[in-house]
Amino acid sequence: METDLSNYNLEADKALEQISILRKQLDDFKSSIANNSPTNVTDSQLKELLTENTKLKHRLAILNRAISNYSSSEDSTPCTRMQSINNILTDLFTIAISKACPDIEDPPIVLALSTNPKFKDYQCNSALPIANIYKQQSKKLAPRDIAQKIVDNVPANELIAELEIAGPGFINIALRKDFALKNLTCIFEHGVKPPEIPAKLKVLVDFSSPNIAKEMHVGHLRSTIIGDSICRLLEFLGHDVLRINHVGDWGTQFGMLIAHLQDKFPDYQVRSPPIGDLQAFYKESKKRFDEDEEFKKRAYASVVKLQSFDPEHKKAWELICDASRKEFQKIYDRLDIKLTERGESFYQNRMQLIVKELDDAGHLELDDGRKVMWGGLESIPLTVVKTDGGFTYDTSDMAAIKQRLHEEKSDWVIYVTDAGQATHFQVLFSCAKKAGIIDAEKHRVDHVGFGVVLGEDKKKFKTRSGETVRLLDLLDEGLRRALDKLKEKERDKVLTPEELKKAQESVAYGCIKYADLSHNRNHEYVFSFDKMLEDKGNTAVYLLYALTRIRSIARTAGFSPEKIIEISKQFSISLDHEKEWKLAKVLLRFPDVLLKISKDLFLHPLCEYVYEIATAFTEFYDSCYCIEKVSGDIVKVNSGRILLAEAAAAIMAQCFDVLGLKPVEKM
Ligand code: ARG
Repeated sequence: METDLSNYNLEADKALEQISILRKQLDDFKSSIANNSPTNVTDSQLKELLTENTKLKHRLAILNRAISNYSSSEDSTPCTRMQSINNILTDLFTIAISKACPDIEDPPIVLALSTNPKFKDYQCNSALPIANIYKQQSKKLAPRDIAQKIVDNVPANELIAELEIAGPGFINIALRKDFALKNLTCIFEHGVKPPEIPAKLKVLVDFSSPNIAKEMHVGHLRSTIIGDSICRLLEFLGHDVLRINHVGDWGTQFGMLIAHLQDKFPDYQVRSPPIGDLQAFYKESKKRFDEDEEFKKRAYASVVKLQSFDPEHKKAWELICDASRKEFQKIYDRLDIKLTERGESFYQNRMQLIVKELDDAGHLELDDGRKVMWGGLESIPLTVVKTDGGFTYDTSDMAAIKQRLHEEKSDWVIYVTDAGQATHFQVLFSCAKKAGIIDAEKHRVDHVGFGVVLGEDKKKFKTRSGETVRLLDLLDEGLRRALDKLKEKERDKVLTPEELKKAQESVAYGCIKYADLSHNRNHEYVFSFDKMLEDKGNTAVYLLYALTRIRSIARTAGFSPEKIIEISKQFSISLDHEKEWKLAKVLLRFPDVLLKISKDLFLHPLCEYVYEIATAFTEFYDSCYCIEKVSGDIVKVNSGRILLAEAAAAIMAQCFDVLGLKPVEKM
């Protein structure tokens, strides 16, 4: 396994040489056609030549990527970026397998975490599927022999301590403790660092996005919590993130509302009705709109005026928006959510432009008086212009996606809404591709959907009297229940009033966020304070407690954060005991957990991971003394173990930060 890395550069050079020979043959052939001179290359030979050329290029690219990744990961210091074990193993085994099996196109690189200490720390399980590929080519090779060849070709590296072939051809991988020490020790002085990312991207996240004059409901709460956590994740990884609140602040509803206010709230141009009345007015205006033809006409006239920025209508509209905005802000402040408001109204002029652009390009079709655009295979089109000439939710999203990708120059746009809007986004994305707005090579767009919120009766989430739950009331109830919980544990007797209040908020908002994030977001989600405030299992309460407990170890030993840094220069993190090593290996997975969840934007694996840290910590703490006491007096402090505990606390705290939880020092 002590092969020099330069061999792999040689290997890549050889592939390059072959490609250049092929290219020359192709060029000769092309020029002979141009000169009309007779050639002895047939059509099918040409095709073969081309395919071979493409395949070689592909293999060369993979190999080169692995070589360059690997060389740069060796240089990178974990004090700026924590190293990803998965990435290093993938690079090492890509190189080893390409070398061991040069005749296999795209060999499978199968890596896994070992499930049993008997099988060491990680495993490479590629040899068996590779043997099968050979079998299909009528070559008989024993998986164990293939495994041996792979092992022989793993380049020298700083990660692997030992490789061992087991069973029918599994490769067991033992990690070097040095690698763990290098990555974990940096934490004390430099903090927890994110893993290397392939490229820094500009990401626009559209989340929360409630509607003006309407109640912000639990669906918006889910979008707010999930969207915020996605932003926190991408920000921590080092992307450039724009958090956009795409509030519903435009459209027919404002015509209705203003027309109704003219009758019911003549002051509407000087002040907005209080928020509760505003929502009631909204409902009444909707009713009138549906029942009264005369009113409907007035509402349309109003919306036309607003959309042409008539000053009086604009003023009334601004007042209404302000009232709602203040109400939304109360929720954001409590949950510590940062957002830039850029509502549907922002796109008014851009909507006119995009409609013209789509029409000119022949993308719009007349359908019963409406102008629609068909994407691809979806069964419904986008309604770009209504029968009355007005714009819709679809129009504003079409204008917005163009603004986001072309003006804002985002590389990646993420929309967080309930799963009910999945079709809307599918159609939007396929129309935007068709219109050349999304360039699949350059842009990534995602709809991050989530399931509906249910009450404990498994029915739609409602108050006991059957009304929609006001979010502020819900947060207040959370606060009350969190305080009950703390009192039940008699924390009010040990904490100062300020500490108690901090703990109460941390628990209340933490448990609401965590309950949401710890479930697969695609599933329905049952809102239950009883469940989320349990202090056992994978809950915020349990984990917040676990973190304060871990942090109190260093405090008991009298180690301040400064002292920890000092100690970390004199002592190594203790990794000898089986449980110490087990905990350290969990901690080393931090970069890989983040990289995984940033691919599919499912956050629950991060919650499972924090829970795994807490569990591994408990196992470690149960069998390894950190502080030894005799009749209450400290007689021995095991610095190496305290360092391990502090590393665990730091990584846990960083996970909480991504999840939007605020741990407190005492609870
Ligand atoms: N306001 C919408 C709602 O309440 C959500 C908007 C989501 N974002 C978007 N670009 N369509 O359902």
